[in-house]
Amino acid sequence: MWVVAVTVLVVLVALVWHRKTSNKNLPPGPGGLPLIGQIAKAVDPRKELHFIEWQKKYGPIFYFNTITEKMVVISDADLIREAFSKSETADRPSNIIFTLFYADNGLVFSSGELWKQSRRFSLHHLRNFGMGGAKLESVIQDQVQELLEQVVAPNEGKPLCIDHSLRIAIANVIWGMVSSQKFAVTDTRALEVMRPFDEMSQFIWIFIILTICPALARLPSWLNGLKKVYKIFNAPIDTLIQPAIDSHEETVDLRGEPRDYIDCMLQERSRNPQFFTNRHMIRSILDLFVAGHDTTSVTLGWAFIYLCKDLEVQRKLREEITNIVGKERSPALSDRPRMPYTEAFIMETQRMANIAPTGLEHVTREEIQLGGYTIPRGAQIISLLMAVHMDEKHFPEPEAFRPERFLDDQGRVKPNRALIPFSVGKRSCLGEALARAELFLFLTGLLQRYSLRFVDGFDHDLSCIQTKAIVREPTSYEVVLERS
Ligand code: HEM
Repeated sequence: MWVVAVTVLVVLVALVWHRKTSNKNLPPGPGGLPLIGQIAKAVDPRKELHFIEWQKKYGPIFYFNTITEKMVVISDADLIREAFSKSETADRPSNIIFTLFYADNGLVFSSGELWKQSRRFSLHHLRNFGMGGAKLESVIQDQVQELLEQVVAPNEGKPLCIDHSLRIAIANVIWGMVSSQKFAVTDTRALEVMRPFDEMSQFIWIFIILTICPALARLPSWLNGLKKVYKIFNAPIDTLIQPAIDSHEETVDLRGEPRDYIDCMLQERSRNPQFFTNRHMIRSILDLFVAGHDTTSVTLGWAFIYLCKDLEVQRKLREEITNIVGKERSPALSDRPRMPYTEAFIMETQRMANIAPTGLEHVTREEIQLGGYTIPRGAQIISLLMAVHMDEKHFPEPEAFRPERFLDDQGRVKPNRALIPFSVGKRSCLGEALARAELFLFLTGLLQRYSLRFVDGFDHDLSCIQTKAIVREPTSYEVVLERS
């Protein structure tokens, strides 16, 4: 019965779809199977690999469809800039799954007026709590110090999987601004928050069926397969986000000086309850927590791999730290302009690591013209950042790790317009300043005192965890840190 209902629906959707899009001046593209289009490739966690193949065949802008979605993929930095500077592309796609897990709210996946106000609100208040300022610098330096004293020093000279403690140290920076709370290095709640994202790929078919037939979401959750999904997705809210909100609600002064981002949200909610709902608050906090630590710690994870793979690069970096900072004081953000090699190393790491290979999807609110094509209303736009960063037109020998490509003849930093790891335009990364400060201070703080190498006989093959849907994370490895 279900199968028949779903099939009939698919056919109807596909027919309406075809009529809606068949007469447009669409970009070229791979077409797809009748009715289902290219759904299998679009939901593959490593979809960027299929997109890169298609981009080679169809060029810097191509089109395909899935059962319900029109997709446009762009792999040229200037075209991405043009597309994402338009207000018509500032929304995120929405679907039943997003709504179920509050993602029509919050910061990262919301659209329209709610997104606009939330972005402005978050930028304003996070700046007040230090994002981009001197206060932030000392918060990050403290976390680097704790990492070195509590994790690295006791394990000097031994194989160490630094990933978890690094994650917690970085999570503490954003979580401090959001909630004034801090995780101990042994507190696994910070790691549990990522579980839903890690396990997303095993629920993909439930998500697809619900997208085609949203009414099935109304069935009891034990029948439509959502019970386990709810359990996993709600866990971080139950164990971390809601308790933080509850404890703030007991102590907040709604008219007084806010202590942190949660206080600001509670104050705003008391003034504007229709807009700043509980769902919106929970989702905004979760978004900041996830976007604010996963990305940066994974980037540093790749940086350590490149440092262990190329000891000459590591030597140059450590030499610059010794020359500019010395050993007596912690590296500071004011050292940055005098440390071009470090800057170039971070740029090259971000280019090669491609932690957000397909950016985050945008959707067109209205029909737009782009690259000589007509992009229909409601089309998803994907920025294929990985292809941009591996384009040999902008980065000769793109597979080689070479920080020098970002330095000029005088050894000064040479920016490249095609390096856009934080994306561009109206929805570009809200935490870019914070991320850049963290990357610099964690990297230099660690290398100032320690040299890094792989365990004897090991070499990382640059492979990433295949099931990671959004952030491209390296497969696990151990390093040996030796005091110098
Ligand atoms: C190396 C670290 C990071 C990278 C590479 C990165 C990359 C990105 C990318 C590619 C996007 C999507 C932009 C788009 O839709 O076009 C994004 C969005 C976002 N990032 Fe980051 N990010 C990083 C760190 C951070 C940090 C530390 C925060 C913490 C505040 C953060 C918060 C956000 C938010 C809230 C959005 C959504 C913005 C919106 O939809 O308006 N990110 N980031």
